[in-house]
Amino acid sequence: MKTLIKNGRIVTAVDDYRGDILVDGELITLLGKNLDISADLVIDAKDKLVIPGGIDPHTHLDMPFGSTVSADDFQTGTAAAACGGTTTIIDFAIQTKGSSMLAALDTWHKKAQGKASIDYSFHMAVTDLSKPEYLEEMNHLMKHDGVTSFKLFMAYPGSLMVDDACIFKAMSVAGRHGGLVSIHAENGLVITELVANALAAGNKAPEFHALTRPDAAEAEAVGRSIAIAQMAGTPVYIVHTSCYDSLTKVSAARAAGIPVMAETCPQYLFLDSSYYSKDDFAAAKYVATPPLREKWNQEKLWEGLRMNDLQVVATDHCPFNFVGQKELGRNDFTKIPNGMPGIENRMSLVYNGGVTGGRISVNRFVEITSTAAAKIFGLFPRKGTIAAGSDADLVIFDPKKKMTISASTHHMNVDYNCYEGMEVEGVVETVLSRGRVVVNNGNYVGSSGSGQFLNRLTAEFR
Ligand code: URP
Ligand code: ZN
Ligand code: ZN
Repeated sequence: MKTLIKNGRIVTAVDDYRGDILVDGELITLLGKNLDISADLVIDAKDKLVIPGGIDPHTHLDMPFGSTVSADDFQTGTAAAACGGTTTIIDFAIQTKGSSMLAALDTWHKKAQGKASIDYSFHMAVTDLSKPEYLEEMNHLMKHDGVTSFKLFMAYPGSLMVDDACIFKAMSVAGRHGGLVSIHAENGLVITELVANALAAGNKAPEFHALTRPDAAEAEAVGRSIAIAQMAGTPVYIVHTSCYDSLTKVSAARAAGIPVMAETCPQYLFLDSSYYSKDDFAAAKYVATPPLREKWNQEKLWEGLRMNDLQVVATDHCPFNFVGQKELGRNDFTKIPNGMPGIENRMSLVYNGGVTGGRISVNRFVEITSTAAAKIFGLFPRKGTIAAGSDADLVIFDPKKKMTISASTHHMNVDYNCYEGMEVEGVVETVLSRGRVVVNNGNYVGSSGSGQFLNRLTAEFR
């Protein structure tokens, strides 16, 4: 099957020109002007951007959380991602304490198998390195399983949290083999004290989720994880950077030549802590970790994206329905499942706030929503760019079209949208995933099971 995309404005992290793209099978095979080639399908992209498919390296589909599970599985979550212009996700397989990481990977493969409509990969969330064989498993994952990145949690004591020694060990092993450790940076032990104090004082409403997870708890852990990475002699990637205090730790380290990379998420760029004042328990919709911060942090994060102290915008998509799931914490904020939906809205939000809003260039938009994640996580140049030989993951994006975000029209399997009523300029029109049209003029036409698992590369092969 040949597809010819004509007259588009082709934008990558470094290019910006008008031209045509020939897709043959799953790959981009030719770029040029006025290509006169017969094709099975011709798409007119006049007045549209043609950009690399988005890469969201931080999602939680079908993820257990306490007594419940995130509301999007690999079928609904990847369909929603596609509708929003994302053609690759990297989700998290989570090691159960005392159990094998290889078993966890198997579990997550089964969750995705036959369901994903776009390509996907996994980070391994490491929760236990108490046995030597677990370190061996990290090697195995990097060498044989295409899992070249790991997430360790400095928060959630009693479930996911690991201690500093564990982080040091994981970084040392990952670093030796060209893998990368990412860190959920929050001081879990201090937060536990703050939470206990809040509950003892009878403060059980959702806003206390945020008040017991202050900026300093995040910034301290960011700084500590950077120091541990320095001692291990490895790079580190900080997930879901939410506030200026954390960003300054990252910026200072980078200015000193320390290899630190970091992501932020749309919720920290567009939402703020005033959302915790919503009544009728609606504040629970915004309970995620780290929590939303004071509004002034948003421009600082945009500045971080502009200056490349932040490299990636990921979603941390972790949806729970308001009815039946968020409601579990009606009488106690600690029982509210942590997480927010957003996999479908990332590209339009970042385009609107970034490019339309005059904060970043269109090339930088592509870089922070696709190219940088491909490079950092071992998918480039197969993913993250438009070049002959790259996978034909392409988004035809209308930069002038407007859309009002709403749960009534979104494809995510969750009963609210955090950005309800926000108007964005810049809308996904048509999406190709490895050459297959999965979104046509805004309509999802993909099929479950056509997404493939992506083996990712370690640093020496990037
Ligand atoms: O609240 C969040 N972010 N839930 C997902 C798990 C995590 O910490 O990334
Ligand atoms: Zn996290
Ligand atoms: Zn997460």
